[in-house]
Amino acid sequence: MPLKFLFLPVCLVFSVNIPAAQLAPEHQWSAAELSLLKTLWIKNLNQQVDNSNHVVNNSVAVDLGHRIFFDKRFSSNGNIACASCHHPDKYFTDGRKTAKGLSVLTRNAPTVVGSSHHTWFFLDGRSDSLWSQALGPLENEKEHGGNRSQYAHLVFNDPVLRNLYEKIFGSVPDISDLKRFPVQAGPVKNKAASNAWKAMNKKDKQIISKIFVNIGKAIAAYETKLQPAASRFDNYIKALLNNDTAEMQKQLSSDEVKGLRIFVSKAKCIVCHSGPMLTDKSFHNISIPPRKGDTGKNLKHDWGRYTGARQVLNSPFNCRSQYNDNKNRQCDELEYIVMDRHETQGAFKTPSLRNVSKTAPYMHAGQLETLREVIEHYDNPPPVIFRKSELFLNFNLNTDEVLQLEAFLKTLDSPVNAPARLLDPPGQN
Ligand code: HEC
Ligand code: HEC
Repeated sequence: MPLKFLFLPVCLVFSVNIPAAQLAPEHQWSAAELSLLKTLWIKNLNQQVDNSNHVVNNSVAVDLGHRIFFDKRFSSNGNIACASCHHPDKYFTDGRKTAKGLSVLTRNAPTVVGSSHHTWFFLDGRSDSLWSQALGPLENEKEHGGNRSQYAHLVFNDPVLRNLYEKIFGSVPDISDLKRFPVQAGPVKNKAASNAWKAMNKKDKQIISKIFVNIGKAIAAYETKLQPAASRFDNYIKALLNNDTAEMQKQLSSDEVKGLRIFVSKAKCIVCHSGPMLTDKSFHNISIPPRKGDTGKNLKHDWGRYTGARQVLNSPFNCRSQYNDNKNRQCDELEYIVMDRHETQGAFKTPSLRNVSKTAPYMHAGQLETLREVIEHYDNPPPVIFRKSELFLNFNLNTDEVLQLEAFLKTLDSPVNAPARLLDPPGQN
């Protein structure tokens, strides 16, 4: 009689093809553990349709967004595109500690793959939609450095962009009168462009802003197509649910499974890295030290969500704005937003851990270089560095356990699930 029949049903793990005695203990999971593991499975990843963007599933919008994502003309100097910092060869990140556009930023560039699943965008969540996120870098003086009127004119004057735009959104309003619609105008740091913007009347500003918003919506349609594919970890869960022990052992090595066990139990990573994207989509202060300047001195602390929460409430492009395509909008996220200082000061968004081996360096300003350093940080967190940290436990992982947890994190690697053409710059026609 197979060994499993000797157990009570509650501890009965799953019906194994080979006697449980032969299946290494690390591969044996209780029913409760199994249901917990299942919550991380990519099969449970459902794309919530973004009702604030009516073109999110429009294939022409995907093409237009794809073009703009790689188009360096969308910048003040003709040298910066989204892809400069979200590079397809680097899993749509840039490999730098903090990103560099026209100048160096204070934050690390996260990937855009799977970003459509977030509730809040940017590391401090100062946007509440993928499309409004895209508008930030375009007008930021350290990133693309341009302005919305410049971008509207670019779409208006470029036959390819204009043709795609009109197929999606209808005709571009006539903005050829440069007295009414100056080529450089927007609420930006650049004085001349900012003054030109202030001098425009409200209706004309709205015409330009609407084109700008539509650019963001097309970019978001493109980004939504970039999804993580199933990883070895997901294949393991599938095999586990099918009781396919041979396949389980083929997908994950003994050390990797031990690492998974540490992830869900001993080190409790799953408390925050939960769900199929391995993020709770929320914000936490985890005692990350401040950035260091060139001289090695600590720079100012980043307030993170504390500032981001206030910014998103005031954003002219948030869920409550006229640019939300969903006229029955509820905006619960803004209604119930957490503003409490203890929970927001120095707190950053929990990143997804899918393909985390490709997104080094880690944390909001790339403070930690390797996954090993990240694990050591959690294992033995530094004393509270800024405001109130949520990390206070010392797990005392031994050297083997550190390696196992690291090995597990690497099983979350997978290709980008998107049509191949979307991973390269678009062709010229
Ligand atoms: C100069 C480098 C740079 C450029 C150019 C740039 N980004 Fe980013 N991106 C970043 C950085 C850094 C962050 C995080 C910033 C923050 O949290 O303050 C970010 C955040 C994001 C996020 C949020 C991901 C998340 O998990 O919340 C998305 C999506 C994104 N960028 C898309 C774009 C798009 C689309 C463009 C072009 C319109 C673009 N980026 C241009 C560096 C850049
Ligand atoms: C209290 C919530 C919480 C817990 C518990 C937690 N994390 Fe995190 N994790 C975060 C947050 C928040 C960040 C981003 C912090 C930042 O940007 O400064 C993060 C970042 C990371 C990163 C960096 C990812 C990147 O792309 O920069 C890795 C890797 C990581 N966590 C792994 C783990 C592991 C492994 C564990 C368990 C040992 C764990 N986390 C436990 C909240 C948590």
